[in-house]
Amino acid sequence: MEILKAKSAMQQWSKEKKRLLRSIGFVPTMGFLHQGHVSLMEKAKSLCDEVVLSIFVNPTQFGPTEDLDAYPCDLENDLNLARKAGVTAVFLPTKDHVYPQNFQTKIELEHLPKFLCGKFRPVHFGGVATVVTKLFNIVMPDVAVFGQKDYQQLQIIRQLTLDLDFDIKIVAGDIVREKDGLAMSSRNSYLSQAQRTSAMSLFKSMNMAKALIQSGETDPQAIGKKMETFIHGFDETAVEYICFCDPVTLEDMENLDRKFLMALAVRVGTTRLIDNCLMDPLQ
Ligand code: PAJ
Repeated sequence: MEILKAKSAMQQWSKEKKRLLRSIGFVPTMGFLHQGHVSLMEKAKSLCDEVVLSIFVNPTQFGPTEDLDAYPCDLENDLNLARKAGVTAVFLPTKDHVYPQNFQTKIELEHLPKFLCGKFRPVHFGGVATVVTKLFNIVMPDVAVFGQKDYQQLQIIRQLTLDLDFDIKIVAGDIVREKDGLAMSSRNSYLSQAQRTSAMSLFKSMNMAKALIQSGETDPQAIGKKMETFIHGFDETAVEYICFCDPVTLEDMENLDRKFLMALAVRVGTTRLIDNCLMDPLQ
């Protein structure tokens, strides 16, 4: 497994693999890897000859009051997991190298960032879109794998790939969960034991919603209210949003009579957690 720090070294590596007709799969991350990330690396490995993992805590996608400085990191463990998953190159750029002085270009999408997390994290998706565009240009992959855990991010990447004519296949990876249902996240490490129990309320509330929908409830407002009350029954929880929306446009749905995305964001203490589930009431 090669470790590459310079953009030019990464580009050269990819050019050489392309010359040898080796396909390249790409998994961008911010590190502190867990089984969710591992599943994406394994998926990339099953689809491509080479797998590139990037680890870069991207400052432009954090708001001024967010956890950029506290973001967890364990490079040694990340490299071990990457090696085991069959990664062939790790791209580890520095902040100054990704954003040199006088950097001034931004990628902003018109509609998708207006919904869900975008309402609460105004700079977030511009930062994600900009860094992923740069990473695509540096790594030049054939396939890039993103987790459904960050569903809005996945939709935004799909859209920017189309809009900017990247010849890259975007592949989605299922949400990997802990045994008790909590979606794996690097941010789960911030939770105390008691908060960890409260964090379960996201998954449990989605199961409650599923049962309501299966028993014929189609009103998202009614379901959302019940979920909110349920979640607020757990200590230190504050619901940011609970949404039922179109899985492509992310616009709110009035009636759950076709396939939809149920998505929520909840603060447990100061830790912001998200989860989601695609559902088809007709099935
Ligand atoms: P990060 O939060 O490190 O996530 C990297 C990738 O792992 C994303 O595609 C995310 O959706 C996926 N992922 C996280 N938790 C997962 C889980 N429990 N199951 C499956 N996949 C999971 O997302 C980012 O980094 C950044 O925004 C990035 C795209 C790297 C741009 O900076």
